[in-house]
Amino acid sequence: MAQQKLADPTALFHYQSKIALAKSTPTLRDQVVLSSVLGNEHFELSVYESLIVPAEALGLTDAVALLQANLDQEVYTSDELRTRLQELVHA
Ligand SMILES: [Fe+2]
Repeated sequence: MAQQKLADPTALFHYQSKIALAKSTPTLRDQVVLSSVLGNEHFELSVYESLIVPAEALGLTDAVALLQANLDQEVYTSDELRTRLQELVHA
């Protein structure tokens, strides 16, 4: 299992989320799920940002445009999740 977690970062997020969910009280579970998904989105943001920088350096303008479009979607999703989390906490 540890070998698999290192090979697949998203598997590590899922594993950590399962542990956090198991340890949380039932009243906090929605918040834990949203926080876990938000953490995964931030990982995806860093992946796209890390791909855009070398693609720009190589002059791969088509690839940069596609990666930027994906990054924009991740930013949108992250903002939506943050809004849902704020609504949940302030409800
Ligand atoms: Fe995403």
